[in-house]
Amino acid sequence: MNNSSLEEIAKLMVAPSKGILAADESTGTIKKRLDSISVESNEINRRSYREMLFTSPEINKYISGVILFDETLRQSNNSGKRLSEILEDKNIIPGIKVDKGTWPCPGFNNFPITQGLDGLKQRCDEYFELGAKFTKWRAVIKIIDSIVPIEVIEANAYALAMYAATAQESGLVPIVEPEVLMDGKHNIELCKKITETTLNMVFEKLDKYKVNLKGIVLKPNMIVPGSESSEDATHNEIAEKTIFVLKKCVPKNVPGIAFLSGGQTEIESTLNLNSINQSKDLPWEVTFSYGRALQQSALNKWQGKEENIIESQKVFLHRAKMNSLAHNGEYNLDLENT
Ligand code: G3H
Repeated sequence: MNNSSLEEIAKLMVAPSKGILAADESTGTIKKRLDSISVESNEINRRSYREMLFTSPEINKYISGVILFDETLRQSNNSGKRLSEILEDKNIIPGIKVDKGTWPCPGFNNFPITQGLDGLKQRCDEYFELGAKFTKWRAVIKIIDSIVPIEVIEANAYALAMYAATAQESGLVPIVEPEVLMDGKHNIELCKKITETTLNMVFEKLDKYKVNLKGIVLKPNMIVPGSESSEDATHNEIAEKTIFVLKKCVPKNVPGIAFLSGGQTEIESTLNLNSINQSKDLPWEVTFSYGRALQQSALNKWQGKEENIIESQKVFLHRAKMNSLAHNGEYNLDLENT
């Protein structure tokens, strides 16, 4: 695939009023989610849950693309139709998680590094053949006792760049996801400092490995206090600090930024995205690529029961719509009751 196709797909992924559904929970993570509603995590239940989300009426009004897990990209519904084709029929772009999760970073064992570069080119080529148009790799930057060693940030950034270059060589748009975890007692200033260091390092490595920045989507964390911090930050403060860091670190030719929710509640992540988009001079499209913040209420409503599908889809679509409005800076809390 040539550069212009990659660039077109990246633009479609972050199109105005739309965002990305992250439904790429690994087998371990989806088990935790299904355990929380006492549903067994087997292949059929995982498929039913995800099929329920993907077949929500009018999902395509709010969702541009869906990140899938390997199992889902290969799954078909009871009529033999691949789940990725169900998405494509609605003009929703199927993508695929290609990293292999985290592992203790050699030399810095308390800190994670993402693995999965071995065999990555072959996996990407196969996923391209299976119809995926974009990929995701999540690097996890964990703050422990107020620090992250620079070596750990550099190793994660190197892996992200090797991944992004490989994905583009296979004709797939890479979602580049460096996530500074919310976990911990750190304050918002430390999140800001470490996010800035991380993003600078990531763009230095992307440049080194000749990644076409017009053909990527950046998926960062917002700048927020740690989840165990006693500090409170307003939506405006979060937006102001997040925009400050992004403007400092992210080149203008990146077409779009799609945030992860990272443990924020559904409403918080929508309010924060909206505050960010109320700034009128952003050089990129700024949208969502949420997992938990799009799915949590829908999962709770579903409970693994067929009779709950329609209500669960309504709940999911409501969240998608609220975030679509936040992409345009047009959301407010009163709309939650509509
Ligand atoms: O890699 C993380 C997911 O794609 C986003 O999940 O919104 O629940 O943090 P989250």
